[in-house]
Amino acid sequence: MKKLILLSLITSSLLANNYALENTPLSINNKTIGTIIIGTKFDIVKNDNNKSEIKLTGYRPKGGKAIYDTLGVLSNSVNLDDANAVKVIGTKVDDYDNTWEVVEIVASVDSAKITNKDIIEDGKALFEERCGICHALHAYDEFSKNVWPSTIKSMQDNASLDENEYYQVVKYLQRVAPGDDE
Ligand code: HEC
Repeated sequence: MKKLILLSLITSSLLANNYALENTPLSINNKTIGTIIIGTKFDIVKNDNNKSEIKLTGYRPKGGKAIYDTLGVLSNSVNLDDANAVKVIGTKVDDYDNTWEVVEIVASVDSAKITNKDIIEDGKALFEERCGICHALHAYDEFSKNVWPSTIKSMQDNASLDENEYYQVVKYLQRVAPGDDE
């Protein structure tokens, strides 16, 4: 019984959710391969001084530089500088018959840029504070998950959203907005 409790304690700490604290460079053998986007969830493989090796899987149109965390949703998790820096481990077809590559990324990030806090939830306050100044706040469900990114892009300067805030608002809205088939 004691062993069982100990085991579950160890397992739960290993399974703590880890997220990128902000848009942060990702590297392999000290070479930057791209940027992991704020709020992206990943597993930690190992900690080494100030660096952590992390692992995540994602989806992209064949050969693309933008990696998305959910099949069929344009929710950026990693923006690659080099499209070939990641391993393609399979393909998947979404509800619209589009084929996506499934990629696996094992790379290093600065350990100080890892948080256990779900910071995408803070996008709600940003949305409510910055988006209802010049006109009434648009409802979260007025646009679908895949339409919100371009809508926020067109308002990014109006709302003075920096790149981290832009993704925070987009990812929050993608969490609560309807899918494109709803
Ligand atoms: C500085 C003022 C200002 C701020 C702040 C602002 N907007 Fe706007 N917004 C406008 C103006 C002006 C228009 C109408 C002209 C246009 O479309 O550019 C508009 C139009 C819109 C539209 C309608 C256009 C469409 O595509 O249907 C949406 C949706 C919208 N804003 C969302 C937002 C969101 C979300 C934010 C926060 C990220 C935001 N706005 C912040 C000024 C602002």
